[in-house]
Amino acid sequence: MPLDLPLECPIRLSNVFKSFGSIRAVDGLDLDVPAGSCLGLLGPNGAGKSTTMRLLTGQAIADSGDLEVLGFELPKQSKSARARMGLVPQLDNLDVDVSVEENLKVSARLYRVKDIPAAVDRALDLARLTDRRKDAVDELSGGMRRRMLLARGLIHDPDLILLDEPTVGLDPQIRTQIWTLIDDLRSRGKTVLMSTHYIEEAERLADDIAVMAHGKIIARGKPSDLVTEFAGELTAEVYGPPDRLTEVRALADAEGLRSRPAGPAVAIVGADRDRHTFIPPEAVWRAASLEDVFVLLTGEEAE
Ligand SMILES: Nc1ncnc2c1ncn2[C@@H]1O[C@H](COP(=O)(O)OP(=O)(O)O)[C@@H](O)[C@H]1O
Ligand SMILES: [Mg+2]
Repeated sequence: MPLDLPLECPIRLSNVFKSFGSIRAVDGLDLDVPAGSCLGLLGPNGAGKSTTMRLLTGQAIADSGDLEVLGFELPKQSKSARARMGLVPQLDNLDVDVSVEENLKVSARLYRVKDIPAAVDRALDLARLTDRRKDAVDELSGGMRRRMLLARGLIHDPDLILLDEPTVGLDPQIRTQIWTLIDDLRSRGKTVLMSTHYIEEAERLADDIAVMAHGKIIARGKPSDLVTEFAGELTAEVYGPPDRLTEVRALADAEGLRSRPAGPAVAIVGADRDRHTFIPPEAVWRAASLEDVFVLLTGEEAE
């Protein structure tokens, strides 16, 4: 029996914990994903994103906490939930010996899709793989395989889709292709939970971003709101030799400003040209960015 709750949030997690031995992969996670929106779960490697995804699909079982997907309670009703969601895993686990089409047919049967030929055609079209349908999966390029994973995860036309690092390791050009496919899903009103450690990906695709680190959500909001809240309006970048950068960071510290290394420069976040006179006139002022937020909140370098 589905819980008697409104489905405005197809995903609801409350105070969820999951450890592997002494590692707390998910550490008191609260997360809800409103229907029809794309939530970007943005966090560095090891933040607990994939574990969260696996808890949602029933591939892993939480130690404690409340988990609800599409009105189904997990892990008890994970089979029912799983049947109605689409999953695109981080790791490529395609069957390489058989054709693209055959792979999709197998998935369609697993999901008990009624009209299999129609579902296969639709998935091929969505992944722009119609002209490769007869090819064996191991003849596909990396980008095509990733599109194929998407097609397979969406074979039953689910309303809720989980994308775990959909473009990790892909060339920028191929990444853009995948983004177009994800945009398609969004414009069809699907609910998407997408994990990523690429800031640009979250910024480009997500309506709302949840920044995850050490198994928790540490900030949540629209990309532009997160920037305003945590990094203000302007960031000053000061270039110089390492000694000078160390000195500038110390000055920033003394003024209570947060700074971070940014390639050959130091980025000073939340600075004000008039008030913070230690910032040299040659500093480059730019709009504060989500990258500033990410680095400040997670302490990790951006990718
Ligand atoms: N099956 C597992 N066994 C042991 N440790 C795991 C397992 N899965 C994940 N972890 C650990 O849990 C933490 C979170 O991992 P993961 O959820 O994969 O993070 P992310 O997807 O954000 O990179 C990491 O420290 C990882 O090494
Ligand atoms: Mg992961």
